[in-house]
Amino acid sequence: MLVLGLETSCDETGVALYDSERGLLADALFSQIDLHRAYGGVVPELASRDHVKRMLPLIRQVLADAGCVPTEIDAIAYTAGPGLVGALLVGASCAQALAFAWGIPALGVHHMEGHLLAPMLESQPPEFPFVALLVSGGHTQLVRVDGIGRYELLGESLDDAAGEAFDKTAKMMGLNYPGGPEIARLAAQGVEGRFVFPRPMCDRPGLDFSFSGLKTFALNTWQQCIVAGDDSEQARCDISLAFQQAVVETLTIKCKRALKQAGLKRLVIAGGVSANKALRMSLEKMLGDMKGGVYYARPQFCTDNGAMIAYAGCQRLMAGQQESLAISVQARWPMEQLSPL
Ligand SMILES: Nc1ncnc2c1ncn2[C@@H]1O[C@H](COP(=O)(O)OP(=O)(O)OP(=O)(O)O)[C@@H](O)[C@H]1O
Ligand SMILES: [Mg+2]
Repeated sequence: MLVLGLETSCDETGVALYDSERGLLADALFSQIDLHRAYGGVVPELASRDHVKRMLPLIRQVLADAGCVPTEIDAIAYTAGPGLVGALLVGASCAQALAFAWGIPALGVHHMEGHLLAPMLESQPPEFPFVALLVSGGHTQLVRVDGIGRYELLGESLDDAAGEAFDKTAKMMGLNYPGGPEIARLAAQGVEGRFVFPRPMCDRPGLDFSFSGLKTFALNTWQQCIVAGDDSEQARCDISLAFQQAVVETLTIKCKRALKQAGLKRLVIAGGVSANKALRMSLEKMLGDMKGGVYYARPQFCTDNGAMIAYAGCQRLMAGQQESLAISVQARWPMEQLSPL
């Protein structure tokens, strides 16, 4: 089955063609980062308008790259939520209109299921069951995964998502948006041990997270540096390192706890923060000690992309899932509401 995947939940227009036999044939992405940078975050109305501009040219590009024509496409998968409603509606309307014109089905896909299944596109995909750590701009969740659509939420952030904490910490030090890659870049030059940040909620049982206090701790540390006359690049690097170490160690402790609780040794990490090298190294070391394995997607499939939507949609379409022509998207959509395959 050949599936066209469309992703428009936030600030990236992603398009891909996935074939159930041949794998990923082509993918293309337009990131709106430059558009939103001046505002230090995503402006929803600008995002929707830009998706409208980019969608059809990207579809043409992906078809040309794959050497395919529209008559070969069997179905269209699009992100139906969670995300920005205006942005989601662009993908949903485009998918439903093309599907109607081409006489093929369209299916709405859950954005976080897309992220969660992105490592399946790699050469050594994980087998079910596993524990998944979803760490993105809007989510920090630990999920037990027994199969596609068989998700049990084990824990989640009570306030900011990990990616959001990276972005906010970067912004207050005057760094560019998105903050995750910037903090990771500066952390590489940081002096170990100059600052020590707390590991939130690790001293009590449970699998929930809280990152907003860490962001405030970073703000206070940065302000103390300024008062002391040190608003240098090195101070930013040292804070970045201490912040990243705190996030990485906190996530590692909770992943270890979740694996132990679930009685599993396979961990999948997905979402933008899973591109973080320090996090990957820390989790690889922990899973290595446990004689288990950690699985993640290539960096461009950690953040939003069309390939993960095409893949997730293809699995559900092949299982016979269908929907009406109605255009319906959801800003909020708990993943446990998804039907098991
Ligand atoms: N190397 C990195 N280190 C840390 N964080 C990173 C890195 N690369 C990207 N990020 C963070 O990942 C986030 C973007 O990821 P993603 O695109 O998956 O999130 P989103 O789509 O905005 O949110 P959601 O998927 O929850 O709706 C941003 O917060 C960004 O700062
Ligand atoms: Mg995302």
